[in-house]
Amino acid sequence: MKVFRAIDEVRGYLNRKKMEGRIISFVPTMGYLHEGHLSLVRFAKANSDVCAVSIFVNPAQFAPNEDFNRYPRDEARDLNLLEKENCDLVFIPSADEMYDNDHQTYVHVRKYSQVLEGAVRPTHFEGVATVVLKLFNIIQPHFAVFGQKDAQQAFIIKKMVKELNLPVEIKIRPIIREADGLAMSSRNVYLSSEERKSALVLNQALHTAKALVETGERNVAHLIGKAKEIIYQSKIAQLDYVEVVDIEIFERIETITKPNSAYMLVAARFGKTRLIDNVVL
Ligand code: PAJ
Repeated sequence: MKVFRAIDEVRGYLNRKKMEGRIISFVPTMGYLHEGHLSLVRFAKANSDVCAVSIFVNPAQFAPNEDFNRYPRDEARDLNLLEKENCDLVFIPSADEMYDNDHQTYVHVRKYSQVLEGAVRPTHFEGVATVVLKLFNIIQPHFAVFGQKDAQQAFIIKKMVKELNLPVEIKIRPIIREADGLAMSSRNVYLSSEERKSALVLNQALHTAKALVETGERNVAHLIGKAKEIIYQSKIAQLDYVEVVDIEIFERIETITKPNSAYMLVAARFGKTRLIDNVVL
């Protein structure tokens, strides 16, 4: 497995692979890898000749009051996990390699960066879209793989790729969960054991809503009400939002009409840790 830290070097190497006719896949991450990330790597590896993964905790997507400094990092462990997956290449730039002191260019996917996650984290998606575009330009993959876990991020990346005519295909893969249903996240390590137990209400709320839809419920206000009831059973959960959107257009809906397009999205804080989750209804 090749490890690159310099943009010029990773570019040169991958350009040569492309000239040889190799299919390049790419999985961007912020590291502290878990089975969710590894499921994306396996998919990328199985469908390409050269699987590239990036590990970069991107300062531009964290607001000053957020957890950039304490975001978990363990490079040696991550490299070991990627080696086991037969990943071909890892790109681990420093913040200085990615941004100089006077970085001024940002990508803003306007409307969709301000709602839901964007309402709580107003500069977050600008940081995500900017770093993902930079990484696409550096790696120049044929396709890139993202997780449905970050549903709004996946939508915004697809929108950016379409509207900026980027020559990369975006593949979205399902959420990987712990045995008890908690969606895997690098941030789960922040949770105390009490918070960890409470956090199960998110998945329970989503699955209750899904079950109600399966028995014929179509009214979104009712579904959101039921989901909230479950989340409020936890005394420590602080709910940011529960919403139902049509995933194709990322707009709130009032009634469920089409199969497989309505997603319930939830975000809540447990102590200092903010978790998100979603399910197709
Ligand atoms: P990170 O949170 O490290 O996630 C990297 C990728 O793994 C994302 O596409 C995310 O949706 C996916 N992922 C996370 N948890 C998952 C789970 N439980 N099941 C399936 N996939 C999961 O998302 C980011 O990093 C950053 O914003 C990034 C895109 C790298 C830009 O900095």
